[in-house]
Amino acid sequence: MARAIYPGSFDPITYGHIDIVRRAKKLFSRLYVAVVANPHKSPLFTVEERVEITQAALEEAGINGLEVISFDGLLVDCARLHNADAIVRGLRANSDFEYEFQMALTNRDLASELESVFFMTAGRYSFLSSSIVKEVCRYGGDISTFVPKSVEQALEKQFRS
Ligand code: PNS
Repeated sequence: MARAIYPGSFDPITYGHIDIVRRAKKLFSRLYVAVVANPHKSPLFTVEERVEITQAALEEAGINGLEVISFDGLLVDCARLHNADAIVRGLRANSDFEYEFQMALTNRDLASELESVFFMTAGRYSFLSSSIVKEVCRYGGDISTFVPKSVEQALEKQFRS
């Protein structure tokens, strides 16, 4: 079976991301969750924190046997370094399509041997994003249905400090 890389900002990881990880794990023999060091949006957590939070969240969700890594620079370079065959991304609503289409075609241009593979998130997470989670938490709302406990604690610590 093929190897895949699932890249993202993961600032922080949510149940939506975890849903995609579960789906991808069924199809790929090896899965890397790759946290980008410098996302275009300025992140709340450092890359080291995002890797740590992602690892803890996946462990809490009972998902083992994958590697959480970080990367800086081009995704295709990181994918090649890890001998990945595919790039995994999640799709929520129609609004994700244009951005994902542009990224997939750019990555194909840069590395034609890599296939982009998209998983539809579960309907109940189709509205969910890291930004929404951060906003709700910042203003004291309940985020327990959006993220695992360990992520909730990391967010609360960040906002209360
Ligand atoms: O979770 P995000 O922020 O939607 O993830 C975006 C990500 C990290 C997948 C994308 O920004 C990325 O691949 N960045 C690395 C730089 C790169 O390779 N750019 C060219 C492809 S568009």
